[in-house]
Amino acid sequence: MGKGWSKSDWRAKPRVQMPDYPDQAALHAVEETLSRMPPLVFAGEARKLKAELAKAAKGEAFLLQGGDCAEAFGEFSADNIRDTFKVMLQMAVVLTWGAKVPVIKVGRMAGQFAKPRSAPTEVINGEELPSYRGDIINGFDFTEAARLPDPNRMLQAYTQAAASLNLLRAFSTGGYADIHRVQSWIAGFTDAEEAEKYRKVADQISDAMEFMRAAGVTSETAHELGSVDFYTSHEALLLEYEEALCRIDSTTGLPIAGTGHMLWIGDRTRQVDGAHVEFCRGVQNPIGLKCGPTTTEDDLKALMAKLNPENEAGRLTLIARFGAGKVGDHLPRLIRTVEAEGANVVWSCDPMHGNTIKSASGFKTRPFDSVLREVREFFAIHKAEGTIPGGVHFEMTGKDVTECTGGVRAVTDEDLSSRYHTACDPRLNASQSLELAFLVAEELQDRRKLAKAASQ
Ligand code: PEP
Ligand code: CO
Repeated sequence: MGKGWSKSDWRAKPRVQMPDYPDQAALHAVEETLSRMPPLVFAGEARKLKAELAKAAKGEAFLLQGGDCAEAFGEFSADNIRDTFKVMLQMAVVLTWGAKVPVIKVGRMAGQFAKPRSAPTEVINGEELPSYRGDIINGFDFTEAARLPDPNRMLQAYTQAAASLNLLRAFSTGGYADIHRVQSWIAGFTDAEEAEKYRKVADQISDAMEFMRAAGVTSETAHELGSVDFYTSHEALLLEYEEALCRIDSTTGLPIAGTGHMLWIGDRTRQVDGAHVEFCRGVQNPIGLKCGPTTTEDDLKALMAKLNPENEAGRLTLIARFGAGKVGDHLPRLIRTVEAEGANVVWSCDPMHGNTIKSASGFKTRPFDSVLREVREFFAIHKAEGTIPGGVHFEMTGKDVTECTGGVRAVTDEDLSSRYHTACDPRLNASQSLELAFLVAEELQDRRKLAKAASQ
């Protein structure tokens, strides 16, 4: 990391999924402006996250990563940020109850603006235009002007990311994240008749809180109960943006991506000799790597060697995204590759990207049952292999959208059209997200029992 690497080396490598800016002069002006801006994160925070992820690799912590598929300029509001943050806190408390270890909270927030696409163009009513690639690159509207890549969008993305992070930091430490408040939100969910099956767990959490309060442990006496550490992450797709905000960390002398605490490499941009891997290998941030069905054992070996040559704990998170019913075909072979290499990784499960279907009504959706099934398969395989399921990765929002079908407050195919707001992939809504946390917590309890039995 750092040695023999420069932040612009990726430019000499083959690149995919990145725009060709028609106005190079405008691009250079934006890069110049961004290179003078302060970074959004401090390297010490990224190192702290890495240390926490090192614990997740050993089963001593659990990673919860979640947020929008694509953040959009038009959806930017304090309420939206608050609602996603709020549901992530609730999920984290429920998961902590299940795992009995700290839950590391990482938002797909404050930077998740660029999207890889399966096709370079889109055809509507016979008209063909470039695909939408996320608000940091072009516009969602189906017009030639909107779909033209505009480098000035990077400045707006930077501003939105900075304002989002500012609010997230305020929520994290300013009293909003107090565990007593979070616990009362959870109780609000399980008080509803349809969520009754989760009430027992919510009651146990509330009993534990009451016990602590009676014993004198409150957010006044224990700072940990009144605030949280909340980290940001996004796919490192638009490398001009990443390069312009890359800095040298004065403490270690090593490069740090200044755009977010954790970056990940998508399933479409993980070419071993490609531009994205080249950029990510040189920054000291924790790195996620999406692993889909086409990831071969040799790919994974080469990628681990390149992205984590010193086998540093917490550096690399492998995010498995195979699709329900396919986990058994792929995860065991990749787990065995990791074990054979003695590689230190966090295994996380993204049950979203392998489960996208087109509904009868024509909307892209993800059935809640498939999402849940993939999570269960992920846990079952780790159990069979004797390895550690270290985290989960969801596309979700705190809003009451209707984008994924199913859940206790069942969203049906017919409902999809009523509140379908995503700029890209369908997200779990607040209720589905929290329900999923309860179900993952059950799996985690199982993991804990197994670990306990092994240590006796
Ligand atoms: C995503 O996380 O939004 C994404 C595009 O994922 P993947 O690279 O796994 O398809
Ligand atoms: Co997505």
